[in-house]
Amino acid sequence: MLYRIDESDLHETKLIGKQCEQTVNDINHLIDIVFEKNERRLNYNFFDIKGTVLLHGIAGVGKTTIARNCMSYALNKYGVESYRLDVSDIIVSGLGESVKNMHDTLNEFEELNEGILFIDEIDKVLIDRTVVGELSEMKRLLIEFMGYVDNLTVDKKKMLIGCTNVYEQIDEALKRRFSINEEIHRPLNEEKNDFFSICLLEAGIHIPALGLKSDFLNRFETMDSIKGYFRKNILDGSLDQMKTEIEHETI
Ligand SMILES: Nc1ncnc2c1ncn2[C@@H]1O[C@H](COP(=O)(O)OP(=O)(O)OP(=O)(O)O)[C@@H](O)[C@H]1O
Ligand SMILES: [Mg+2]
Repeated sequence: MLYRIDESDLHETKLIGKQCEQTVNDINHLIDIVFEKNERRLNYNFFDIKGTVLLHGIAGVGKTTIARNCMSYALNKYGVESYRLDVSDIIVSGLGESVKNMHDTLNEFEELNEGILFIDEIDKVLIDRTVVGELSEMKRLLIEFMGYVDNLTVDKKKMLIGCTNVYEQIDEALKRRFSINEEIHRPLNEEKNDFFSICLLEAGIHIPALGLKSDFLNRFETMDSIKGYFRKNILDGSLDQMKTEIEHETI
């Protein structure tokens, strides 16, 4: 139910953009608070500070990548391992089974000395509507999960990082329980321009001092859609046409 995330899956990816950078720093600071082995005089519990992180925002803005970079930081700095909770393992159709699966998985994590629990697409565990038993079962899942989050004090050396792109569907009471609750926004055009330069470099194309027109940059909502543009041209064998287009779209 609980899968240790292998070191090889935690390679760090350079993220472009101030907000991504700031969010990584904030999460890493929380990691320091939870896992640093110094004497603490500060009463984190009093301030309801927990090792809990929720990243939300539209698809492709870098939520999973941010989480991965931070898990890599925890592993490299403190030797702390991360674990993945698999949604499809938790949600099964038997009445009551999902709640038991959730309970067992959280217990398994609880018994570790330390660790980070990573739940990508956390909405799926908490609001999946396909479960038999519907509402009552989902409510019990949420209650089980919330109870766990409530007990997750800083001194337990445990963290929880969740990501979602359907934030509106997450229960309000649960949202409040995340010490870092951050919407990752679409990148700015100048950040997209920087990412274009990186992609060009990776594609082995040299265009000096790239300054793309904003109309062109506006076509791309996220860095992922820029990657998609390159992906398509690479697979279509049309890198030369792509280069011409990019040159044409340069100021
Ligand atoms: N700011 C960024 N800088 C560099 N690369 C980025 C950035 N944002 C996204 N990417 C790249 O775009 C791809 C998608 O990012 P990621 O999977 O982290 O997005 P996500 O927000 O988790 O999306 P989803 O909601 O679909 O899960 C990855 O290859 C990632 O490296
Ligand atoms: Mg993701």
